Amino acid sequence: MMRGMLLGAASLVMALAGTLPAAAQEVVKIGLILPMTGPFASTGRQVSAGAKTFMEMKGDTVAGKKVELIIRDDAGVADQTRRIAQELVVNESVQVLAGGGLTPLAMAVAPVATQAKVPMVVTSAGTAAITKASEFITRTSGTLPQYSLPVGTWAAQNGIKKVVTLVSDYGPGLDAEKWFTKEFTSKGGEVSEAVRVPLQNPDFAPFLQRVRDAKPDAVFVFLPSGVGSLFMKQFADRGLAEAGIKLIATGDVTDDDILNSMGKPALGTITGHFYATAHDSPENKAYVEAFEKANNGMRPNFMSVGGYDSMALIYAALEKTKGDASGPGFMEAVKGLSWTSPRGPVSIDPETRDIIQNIYMREVKEVDGELHNVEFETFAALKDPEKAEAK
Ligand code: DHB
Repeated sequence: MMRGMLLGAASLVMALAGTLPAAAQEVVKIGLILPMTGPFASTGRQVSAGAKTFMEMKGDTVAGKKVELIIRDDAGVADQTRRIAQELVVNESVQVLAGGGLTPLAMAVAPVATQAKVPMVVTSAGTAAITKASEFITRTSGTLPQYSLPVGTWAAQNGIKKVVTLVSDYGPGLDAEKWFTKEFTSKGGEVSEAVRVPLQNPDFAPFLQRVRDAKPDAVFVFLPSGVGSLFMKQFADRGLAEAGIKLIATGDVTDDDILNSMGKPALGTITGHFYATAHDSPENKAYVEAFEKANNGMRPNFMSVGGYDSMALIYAALEKTKGDASGPGFMEAVKGLSWTSPRGPVSIDPETRDIIQNIYMREVKEVDGELHNVEFETFAALKDPEKAEAK
């Protein structure tokens, strides 16, 4: 019995010496905080699935370290996001934070990232000012100025003279309104009215009536991911298309995830965005196939690609630092990184830490019995115009 106990103790010591300290050193923990429940759960579902797909495709080690992804639900409530970020940094020793499903949630993490010197990769939120909130923030989604401006260019060049804008009344909506209007009016267009709708539980009917009464050639719309199908239904019910009002929007409205459920009223909608499931490239074909296989056929939308590329960015930065995830060095490594995303070529602007990417103009069309955002024009390698203007 004594011998058995000794042997047991010896093997325990060996186990501790052999694996635990080494394992503790070799793991890089990434804390991905997302709205997995609540009204914006589709964002959490897509981003987390995109990040996991990256790890399935590329493996869970980089620069000799094992990558551990910890996913937490903030239910879309900013106070929760901040509390979870603190808890992950302090108790879980997470070395990189990611997420930011909506602008207020990304903003809530900024002070934690700054104080703890922990990098934060924004996967989803699109207000231009977010990367200015902390030196430790970078982004793999995009900015609303970046993908609203080309819609203004397109409208001015395609016979549209008078537009009413309709946006969600918070950061990204105000950015979209500003940059569509700036570009469209600089090219001779007129914006006759700017309508803003509440972010939470919107009923679009009274706002769409205002649009209809103003008799514009087109309505330009931004709404966050997941809300588009309700909007499309009310747009159809109010007869705006019959009244000759064309729908132009950011691609958040014709979200690939729910596009099929929008049905016929969505056909012909013109949008600008950084990703479409139908994007024609070998990288995207491989991504869509792997994503759909791992998620019961669910279609990947742009949110999922923000999640996928957050991991691409983290892996590329760790390769550059030889696995060192400490904040200042990691952030230096992030600047100027470039890779081929499912969306096309991307890089991180060394001056702003925002993503430089193609913005595609797309039209909703039926392809093989399904609705798709079909790309027809590319605005190549766009930077965030808001920060370019501020310089
Ligand atoms: C934001 C949220 C979205 O769902 C989206 O599609 C774009 C921007 C945001 O809150 O910044």
